[in-house]
Amino acid sequence: MLERVLSSRRATPVSDDGDEAGDESKTRKHISVATRVTNYVIRTGHLWPCLLIGLVIVLVTSFVYHTRDLVCISASSSDHLSRLRFFGFEGLETDFGSLGVPWCRTKHDRTVEWTTKDLIKGLEEFVPIYETRPIKNNMYGMGFDHSFGLWFITRWLKPELMIESGAFKGHSTWVLRQAMPDTRIISLTPRHPEKYLKKGPAYVDENCTYFAGKDFVDFGNVDWGKVMKKHGIKDRSQVLVFFDDHQNELKRLKQALKAGFRHLVFEDNYDTGTGDHYSFRQMCDQFYIRGGGHSCIKDSDEGRIRARRKKFWEKAVDIDELCGPGEAWWGVRGQMRDDFNHSNKAISYAEHFKNSRFVESVLDVYWELPPVAGPSLTHQTRYDPARASSPIVEDGRYGLFRRLGLSGLEASVFNGYTQMVYLQVSQE
Ligand SMILES: C[S@@+](CC[C@H](N)C(=O)[O-])C[C@H]1O[C@@H](n2cnc3c(N)ncnc32)[C@H](O)[C@@H]1O
Repeated sequence: MLERVLSSRRATPVSDDGDEAGDESKTRKHISVATRVTNYVIRTGHLWPCLLIGLVIVLVTSFVYHTRDLVCISASSSDHLSRLRFFGFEGLETDFGSLGVPWCRTKHDRTVEWTTKDLIKGLEEFVPIYETRPIKNNMYGMGFDHSFGLWFITRWLKPELMIESGAFKGHSTWVLRQAMPDTRIISLTPRHPEKYLKKGPAYVDENCTYFAGKDFVDFGNVDWGKVMKKHGIKDRSQVLVFFDDHQNELKRLKQALKAGFRHLVFEDNYDTGTGDHYSFRQMCDQFYIRGGGHSCIKDSDEGRIRARRKKFWEKAVDIDELCGPGEAWWGVRGQMRDDFNHSNKAISYAEHFKNSRFVESVLDVYWELPPVAGPSLTHQTRYDPARASSPIVEDGRYGLFRRLGLSGLEASVFNGYTQMVYLQVSQE
């Protein structure tokens, strides 16, 4: 499964059979046809009538084009327009990534195979599936962006076994099932999802082995040799592990490497200064990465921008929140959080730096899911676009947003974006 995920980051290749030469000859052919037409027009004395007809065509096309624009704008709601102005999106310009988007460097500079076009095609397919979800209000669980991300990645990888750590009422189990209808799932979660059925909607999967309730075992304590044997898995690189258990992601990475798993998805990849566990985004937030490393000076450019943005975005953090004692900005105010913020440890910058070097030494691929759509379309108010990569459906593309069926979803389902990340790892 994995081989097809990867592609090297390199310039557009020139094929061995001389594609470039082919393109050049095509251009040459166009020039000679144009030259021949011009020669004919001049020779026959039809130059002025042709120019006049050309001018009329340009005027008519331009009129039709602008009228269509007016129709599109009036079709989108006035609410949509006022929101654009509210966030300062004059001229539909948004500010995704304006404060930098830290990312983890990989061993060989490889990235994923899929493109934005694949993601848009995926969205078209996933929206009607999402509408059939059994748990409509999944508060404290995944919203639309990450549900789509998990479904898309899983379907692309086509694993032989899916492992999930942290199921809550079972929404993510249901998403995995939609991606792979016949593949076995192993779910590790302290409270069995069936317990939630008594109070309301929940999802219990028939083709899933639950380590839950009295049978619960933490991912780090599972005898994976025994479990893989029981499920007939010979090659652990054919397994996908999904973590949504709010544990220190460095700890989970080490446990996954030890067990020999290579494909990992982490749901909550919290930004620096936020969240209840140490994340990859936090670990790779280093001075040598764009948007990485921070100064605790309130009056710095970053300090002033953050203070302004905090007024608009609920999850944005200003310098006061970012910095702890001794100007410690890494992790969350110098803390490496774990287990839903129940267990924290202060770490030095040197330790934080060492952690990022370790992560980089085992990473083959690091891919953060972009937000599904810009906030002027989704009306989300939580995550700050300044710390996120450009969305799949960019602000201003209301036609596409509507065509994909996204305009029919409630705004609240877009509020849970926390940079879900897909990692491919190996230890050499
Ligand atoms: C945010 S919820 C998961 C949401 C779920 N994936 C969804 O999409 O709806 C976190 C879950 O992790 C569970 N959890 C807590 N500690 C855990 C651990 N050590 N291992 C696995 N799950 C754990 C919690 O009981 C809770 O069900």
